Amino acid sequence: MRLGGLRPDDPEPALNRGLVEQARERHDAACAAFERALAIREDARAWFCLGKSAAALGDAPRATAAYRRALALDPADTCGAGLALAVMGADATPDAVPERYVTELFDGYAARFENELVGNLHYRAPEILHALFAPHVALDTKLDIVDLGCGTGLGGAAFHTLARRLDGIDLSARMVEQARARAIYAELTVGELVASLNARDGTRYDLALATDVLVYFGALGPLFAAVRHVLRPGGWFLFSIERRTDADDGFDLHDGHRYRHGRRYVVAQAAAAGFTAVALEDTSTRIDRGEPVPSLAVLLRRA
Ligand SMILES: C[S@@+](CC[C@H](N)C(=O)[O-])C[C@H]1O[C@@H](n2cnc3c(N)ncnc32)[C@H](O)[C@@H]1O
Repeated sequence: MRLGGLRPDDPEPALNRGLVEQARERHDAACAAFERALAIREDARAWFCLGKSAAALGDAPRATAAYRRALALDPADTCGAGLALAVMGADATPDAVPERYVTELFDGYAARFENELVGNLHYRAPEILHALFAPHVALDTKLDIVDLGCGTGLGGAAFHTLARRLDGIDLSARMVEQARARAIYAELTVGELVASLNARDGTRYDLALATDVLVYFGALGPLFAAVRHVLRPGGWFLFSIERRTDADDGFDLHDGHRYRHGRRYVVAQAAAAGFTAVALEDTSTRIDRGEPVPSLAVLLRRA
């Protein structure tokens, strides 16, 4: 039955109302709208949104219960409820963000990614890493390069003049579509980095590049080992990370659902995976909420 154009069995209008209220930071009204949506039909996204507004109101028990319900309904965690629980301190910090979360986030972001990142967030990781790497190679060097988490290809674009061959790997098919349009990659793979690298023949690249990607990995050991597997002896691993300012060890997850790593942690994980740290430079690769994000530009070499 329809009432004034609204279907009483459709949760979307209430969900959309909640999102509007949430964007205006009217979290009481947002919670009420999400509750209305949930009363019509239970859904992980509505629970996640309710958790977010409840957290903004400082109601930790309500937020925790909502996030847990979202996780129970969607164990692949498309919305990142597990990350939100970790940021609240309700659960331990996971070792990496869920694959489904990354895919959903970047598939949805792909069309406006470059405008947002370069235009609004003053993203400079590719240029910063290029400047860090340049003194270590001759200008006419030609390298076999793999661009890890290539996204739309901003990192690849900064390095392709150094490439004999440039490959890219990324979880998001929509980001990869945009990278393909640049026509600079020999091979583009839609896949998870650790699994894709481990599935490749070993020792085939001279340089592995990861611009703004390790922020989606907490524990770096499995990725470092997978990168080592594909690098030739003496090969380079060049990447940016967000740097912890409260500690030099370990990693944490902030409310932007990205990881920060301690400088000592990076060096220790590199050594354990058979890399020598050639350069670690304090820098900032982008602006967030009006502030430069403390970052590290890192160059490792396979021993
Ligand atoms: C912030 S974007 C950076 C893209 C690109 N490197 C650049 O500098 O513009 C992060 C990219 O890493 C990808 N990504 C994150 N975790 C991944 C994983 N485990 N495996 C493959 N790709 C991943 C995302 O899909 C996204 O395209």
